[in-house]
Amino acid sequence: MNYLNKHLLDVDHLSKDFIYDLMRQTKKIKDGESLNDFSGLDVCALFYEDSTRTKLSFQKACSKLQLNFHNLDIQKSSLNKGESFYNTIKTINSIGMDLFIIRHFSSGAAYFLAKNTNSCVINAGDGSHAHPTQTLSDLFTIFEEEEKFEDLEISIIGDILYSRVARSNILGFLKMGSKINILGPKELIPKVIIDIYESIDKSYKNKIKFYEDFEKPILNSNFLMALRIQKERFDTNTNMDFDYHKWKLDMEKINTFNKEVFVMHPGPVNEETEMSHELVHSNRSLISKQVENGVHVRQKIIERLLGNE
Ligand code: CP
Repeated sequence: MNYLNKHLLDVDHLSKDFIYDLMRQTKKIKDGESLNDFSGLDVCALFYEDSTRTKLSFQKACSKLQLNFHNLDIQKSSLNKGESFYNTIKTINSIGMDLFIIRHFSSGAAYFLAKNTNSCVINAGDGSHAHPTQTLSDLFTIFEEEEKFEDLEISIIGDILYSRVARSNILGFLKMGSKINILGPKELIPKVIIDIYESIDKSYKNKIKFYEDFEKPILNSNFLMALRIQKERFDTNTNMDFDYHKWKLDMEKINTFNKEVFVMHPGPVNEETEMSHELVHSNRSLISKQVENGVHVRQKIIERLLGNE
């Protein structure tokens, strides 16, 4: 078992073929294919940050795979008695786990854990860095609609700077051959990301474009993905002198698009800030499907890691 087969820390090491295969395998699971039985294996959920959909969908995925799911209630753990992150990991290692699922406010925490355990590790979100299972769930939701990614145009709207979903999704969409438009307040759009992604792969050149507003070129998008403004990650130097509502998606805006565009959001949604209540619950919204698909995708990922597929 090599490092990449053992952990899912981001999508950077996954190939396009691997992701297509994962999409097809996930579809089979969603269509009712029977799942492997991992009875007797233990999973530890370490959530240092709040979560509704990621944590519960992992818990459901684990129960479908007959795994023992152990949730460490961080707020009531020995962290409060001064135990360090390192010693917490070492302690749980001694208890014995087969898989860790970790969410942490520090970028890189999942990598630190992977270096200090013999167990498999899934990154369920580390700071502003990465959220690979959200990306694979979002890719699967698009795959269900289009069966391909090449030449699709996906517009990502809002807080790119602090969003781990943006960072992993942009890489995932580029890897699969889609084009990306980015728009939002300039204070939350780090234009350096063009250089970063182009340095990862030359073929990503000219695949990301920035827009200040809902300009004409983005009206051809196939999918719009709005992002939550991550105020909890702002520091004292963050300039918040902008009106986020300018980028809010609503039915009126959607109707200016050239085709029947779908809207997505990784959640949780701040309704009437980044998207109207009406649009969230409309037939143009894939948000509920993203959540539903998160269970199936996470099942397949766990199967691959624990089954050493
Ligand atoms: N998208 C996402 O990670 O949601 P939760 O914070 O509810 O897990």
